[in-house]
Amino acid sequence: MTGEALSTEYARDMAVLGPVLINGVPVAAEDAVISVFDIGFQRGYGCFEAMRSYDGSIFRLGPHLDRLESSATKLRLPIPNRETIAEWCRSTAETAGESVVRILVSGGTDARVPGTDSRVVVFAEAVRPSPPALTVQSRPAPWHTDGDWSELTGAKALSYGFNLAASVAAQDDGFGDALLIGRHGHVLEGPTFSIGWISDGVFSTPGLEIGILESITRTAVIEVAGRLGLTVREGIYGIDDVMNAEEVFAMSTVREVLPIVRVDDREFGVGDWTNSLQSGFTALVDEGLHR
Ligand SMILES: Cc1ncc(COP(=O)(O)O)c(C=O)c1O
Repeated sequence: MTGEALSTEYARDMAVLGPVLINGVPVAAEDAVISVFDIGFQRGYGCFEAMRSYDGSIFRLGPHLDRLESSATKLRLPIPNRETIAEWCRSTAETAGESVVRILVSGGTDARVPGTDSRVVVFAEAVRPSPPALTVQSRPAPWHTDGDWSELTGAKALSYGFNLAASVAAQDDGFGDALLIGRHGHVLEGPTFSIGWISDGVFSTPGLEIGILESITRTAVIEVAGRLGLTVREGIYGIDDVMNAEEVFAMSTVREVLPIVRVDDREFGVGDWTNSLQSGFTALVDEGLHR
C-alpha cells in the first residue's frame, strides 16, 4: 500500500475534519504524509499536544502551548514561534468546530542535527463518543520516574510506546485501560489520563512532584473542586488509597471527567461527587466560551 493510501485509510477511520496543516500549509487528509526518515517516526523524538475544541474554540490553548514549548525546550527541539502555532490551532478549530485538535512536532530528518526539516502537523479529529465509564488494571510502569526527576520529566514527547503497550496489555486482560504504578510503588496516572478519587469527602490525586504529566484537565477539575467546596489533597499515594476510595475517575482532554467503575477486581459506583465534577467541568468550559 502506498503512503497515500495508508493515509487515506487513517483519515477515514479517525474522521479527520478539514485539512491537515503541515508547517502551516493546508494539505488534504489523504495526502498528509511525512518522511519515513523523520526521527519522530524512527526514534520517537518530537513532542505533541491534544486539545479539545468546543464549538470551534480551543479549551485552554495558552496552557497547551506552554506545555508544548516546555516539552520542546526539554527535548532541545526548536519549534516555530508561539503565535504562529496558535494561529494554526485556532484556524483548524474554527474550521472543524467540535473536535480534538492535535499538534505533533516531528524531530526532523537528520539525527545528527535534531530539528532539521522538522514538521509541525496540526489537524482536527471528530470527537468519538466516549463510553460512560472506564475499567482499569493496575500495571507496573518502571520506565516512569516516580518522583526521580530529570530535566526531561514532564515532557510530552512522542515516545509513548511503553504507555500505549500498557494500555494494550490491560485491554488484552479485559480492562478498558491501564493504571500505571511507578517503580517505587506509587499510583501515577493512566497511559493517557490523570486519576483522582474521593474518600471521606476529600478529592485526592497524585501530586505533580511525582513526575506525572501536568494535565490541563486535572488542573481544571481541581478548580471545579474548589468551587464545590471539596477539599483537594495532592500527594504521594499507593494503590490501597485508590482501593479504599468511594469514587474514582479519569481526567483528560479527550475523556474530560470519566468515572472509573473497576480497578483490578474492586468495583466502584458512580458517585455524586464525580457527577458534580463532571457538570462543574462542563460549566467551566461553557464560561470559557462565553467570556
Ligand atoms: C500520561 C498522561 N497523563 C495525563 C494526561 C491528561 O492530560 P490533559 O488533561 O492535558 O489532556 C495525558 C493526556 O494525554 C497523558 O498522556
